[in-house]
Amino acid sequence: MIAMAANTKPTFSLLLLARLSATLVAILLLSWALYFTTSFLPHTLSQRDLIYSVLHPLLMVIGFILISGEAILVPRWLPGSRKRKKMVHLWLQGVALTSAIFGIWTKFQGREGVIANFFSLHSWMGLLCVSLFGAQWLMGFLSFWHRGEVRMTRIRFLPWHVFLGLYTYGLAVVTAETGLLEKLTFLQTKGVVLKHCTESLIVNCLGLGLATLCGVVILTAVSPKQYQSSHTTKVVNSNSKCLTF
Ligand code: HEM
Repeated sequence: MIAMAANTKPTFSLLLLARLSATLVAILLLSWALYFTTSFLPHTLSQRDLIYSVLHPLLMVIGFILISGEAILVPRWLPGSRKRKKMVHLWLQGVALTSAIFGIWTKFQGREGVIANFFSLHSWMGLLCVSLFGAQWLMGFLSFWHRGEVRMTRIRFLPWHVFLGLYTYGLAVVTAETGLLEKLTFLQTKGVVLKHCTESLIVNCLGLGLATLCGVVILTAVSPKQYQSSHTTKVVNSNSKCLTF
């Protein structure tokens, strides 16, 4: 049991911090992708391949990680019925999944086949986390349309849904970190980018921003909800009120 004073608003502060970190991540990534385009130039030097090369991190970080993070936070800020919250949660996760699939697809363009691409830890982790995410989304989708019939099953599986959702989200962030590291190491080894320069600084800050965002989103998701009216103190059961829609 956790006692919480009504005039403290930890969820609000966490939501604000999550949005600030997400905005910072988006700004850093867009600055990298738009101002340092030479780092994304493929050896073919074709405009089309350049677009695919830039699209991959954009879709993976903004489309997949930022939107799925926002979907995780939906029950924390969206007013209205549980059905409405679930619907928005499902839609946002659907957009994140589509971005992830499209983001991986961009990497298949202009190279020699699917299997030839999967040589790195980054690509294996990417495949694992997008597959887990897809399976999780499909389960959520099916249970949303069969709410009456599978109510008990849903209640039983909720803790697993929460665990798998947060695990996959963490895995996506770790995968993005390995992608950033792989790309930067590659550029530095080739001498395209110096170890001490603005671009390296931006990419390192982007990695830190993602790590911060991940921590804040998970903390917000697992912290108990507040149900108080403005001047009362209520005791809430942290197990039953946490992470439900
Ligand atoms: C959740 C985030 C991400 C996921 C799930 C992901 C997934 C993947 C996958 C599955 C591949 C293999 C596709 C192929 O080789 O044809 C790949 C390749 C690649 N990704 Fe990502 N990626 C993510 C974020 C990033 C980021 C932020 C960067 C930074 C620029 C990046 C850079 C690369 C590069 C350079 C490759 C080609 C080399 C390789 O296969 O390792 N990725 N990614």
